[in-house]
Amino acid sequence: MGNILIVYSSRVDETKGIAELIAEGIRQSGHQAEVKTAGQIETEGDLTGFDAYIFGSPTYHGEMLPPMKQVLFMAERANLEGKPGGAFGAYGWSGEANKRIFDTMNYIFKMKMASGPLMIKASWVEDGVETAQAYGKEIAEMI
Ligand SMILES: Cc1cc2nc3c(=O)[nH]c(=O)nc-3n(C[C@H](O)[C@H](O)[C@H](O)COP(=O)(O)O)c2cc1C
Repeated sequence: MGNILIVYSSRVDETKGIAELIAEGIRQSGHQAEVKTAGQIETEGDLTGFDAYIFGSPTYHGEMLPPMKQVLFMAERANLEGKPGGAFGAYGWSGEANKRIFDTMNYIFKMKMASGPLMIKASWVEDGVETAQAYGKEIAEMI
């Protein structure tokens, strides 16, 4: 059984809701999922020892939230090369954070990435539950 780490940042909990649905999909696949806030990651050591990593932040003013930027700087030193990965985040119209997180995991950390970032605006949109759970399953199957 694999253990997948989901780290998210969220201002009014829409991204938190998506994180919990991704975790459900992972658990439905028979794997473990740990869900943590960006603030719970204090050093790169907190990122080591997992089989896959999924990072999420909402987009505000075209950017991810600052605590997720800090997590990405720590992840740079956590030797995640080759590990399965994915990115997500609630958004209103443009969703830059999802893409920036995904690209950093792909191009800088050189992780084995999912088909793309999960681009659902919130957990409650039509098909949101199924789509977020399916993203968790996709990454669980990459372990
Ligand atoms: C001040 C403000 C700025 C925002 N800027 C963007 C933006 O640039 N692009 C976008 O797609 N959504 C933007 N949004 C929408 C948020 O990403 C959206 O409300 C999201 O659900 C918040 O998720 P959270 O609850 O995880 O913080 C903005 C929202 C607010 C209140």
